[in-house]
Amino acid sequence: MLTGFQHLHSALRWGVLFLLVWTLIQSLLGKRKEEAFSSKQAKLGLFTMISLHIQLLLGLTLYVGKGWSSMLGNPTAMGNAIMRFFVVEHLIGMIIAVTLGTLGHSLVKRASDDTVKYKRQILFFGLALVFIMASIPWPFRPGFEAYGWF
Ligand code: HEM
Ligand code: HEM
Repeated sequence: MLTGFQHLHSALRWGVLFLLVWTLIQSLLGKRKEEAFSSKQAKLGLFTMISLHIQLLLGLTLYVGKGWSSMLGNPTAMGNAIMRFFVVEHLIGMIIAVTLGTLGHSLVKRASDDTVKYKRQILFFGLALVFIMASIPWPFRPGFEAYGWF
C-alpha cells in the first residue's frame, strides 16, 4: 500500500509541474494580451491547487507511515544528509509550496480586478514552482541516485 502511494507521489510530481507551468504560461500570456480572466483560467488554478493538496495528503501519509516523522530530532538521522532531507527539508519546502499555491488560489478568487487576479496567480504560483523545483529529490542530486524520474 505505502509502496503504491510512493509511486503515485513520485509520478504525480509531473502532474503538479505540468499544471503549475501551464497555468503560469496562460496567466503570463493573458496578462500581456490584457484578456479577461476566464473561468478556464480560474479552473486551471483550482486543478493545480487540488494536485498540490493530493501530493500533501500522499506525502503526509508516507511521512508518518514510513517512519520519517519518528526521526525528527534524532541525531543520527539529522546527521545524515539524505535522511535529514526527507525528515526536514522536503517537508518544510513542500508545505511552503502547497501553502503558496493554496493562498494563490484563494486570493485570485477574492480579487475583483482581472489584472490583480493575473498578478496574484503569477506571483504565488511562480514562488510555489521555485520551492517545488528546489525540494524535489531529483536523481541527479548527489546521494539521491536511488530516487527515479517517475
Ligand atoms: C492534508 C490534506 C489537506 C489539507 C491540509 C487541505 C487544506 C485545504 C485548505 C486550507 C483549503 C482552503 C483553501 C481556501 O481558503 O480556498 C482547502 C480547499 C480545498 N481542497 Fe484541500 N486539503 C487537503 C487535501 C485535499 C485533497 C486530497 C483534495 C482533493 C482530492 C483537496 C481539494 C480541495 C478543494 C477542491 C478545495 C476548495 C478549493 C476552492 O474551491 O476554493 N484537498 N484545502
Ligand atoms: C508538490 C508537492 C510535492 C512533490 C512534487 C513531491 C515530490 C516527491 C518526490 C518526487 C519524491 C521521491 C519519490 C520516489 O522517487 O520514490 C518524494 C518523496 C517523499 N515525499 Fe514528497 N513531494 C511533495 C510534497 C510532499 C509533502 C507535503 C510531504 C509531507 C511530508 C512529502 C513527503 C515525502 C516523503 C516522506 C517522501 C519519501 C518517501 C520515501 O522514500 O520513504 N512530500 N516527494
